[in-house]
Amino acid sequence: MRDFPKDILIEVMEDVIEDLHGHVHRVSDLAVDLGTGLGLSEYELDCLALAGVLHDVGKIHMDPTILGKPGPLDETEKDLMQRHPELGFAMTRNRLDPRVSEAILYHHERFDGKGYPFGLAGNAIPILSRIVLVADAFDAMTSTRSYQPALPVDFAISEIIRNAGSQFDPNVVEVFIELANVNQLPLATTA
Ligand SMILES: [Fe+2]
Repeated sequence: MRDFPKDILIEVMEDVIEDLHGHVHRVSDLAVDLGTGLGLSEYELDCLALAGVLHDVGKIHMDPTILGKPGPLDETEKDLMQRHPELGFAMTRNRLDPRVSEAILYHHERFDGKGYPFGLAGNAIPILSRIVLVADAFDAMTSTRSYQPALPVDFAISEIIRNAGSQFDPNVVEVFIELANVNQLPLATTA
């Protein structure tokens, strides 16, 4: 088989999932910085980098009219959308290290157990997922989406801090604050 640039596949994914342009790389970069601060091994950081890029790959299966909907989703649309972690897991489980596919599966679980798809809580959620959740939330707030304009960076930082211990793992937020204090958070150009 001829060689081809792997980034092409990421670009195709970003084209399909319109909102994701640049997002997956920023999430991946921030996740690796958070993981480094938490003392993860080089191998875990490699898994985390890949999980950051692929966390929303399951959205490829979503109806484009739902993905690009300007405004809030109705209950049916929300239910469909919330299937993307399991779809992403199914797409990657036999291809990648289980740590990567599990990070994808659990990346919308919340520290307080109120997330989806399973309602796992605390340390029962894989650390890679707890990290991706913080990186994803920060970038989602600070980049322009079909359903909302980019929010101010200071507001996004305060939201992450406000939700430490409920939505987010407080240990991950602690490292996030350290990065924010030295201006090391990757920002979308629209921010
Ligand atoms: Fe997601």
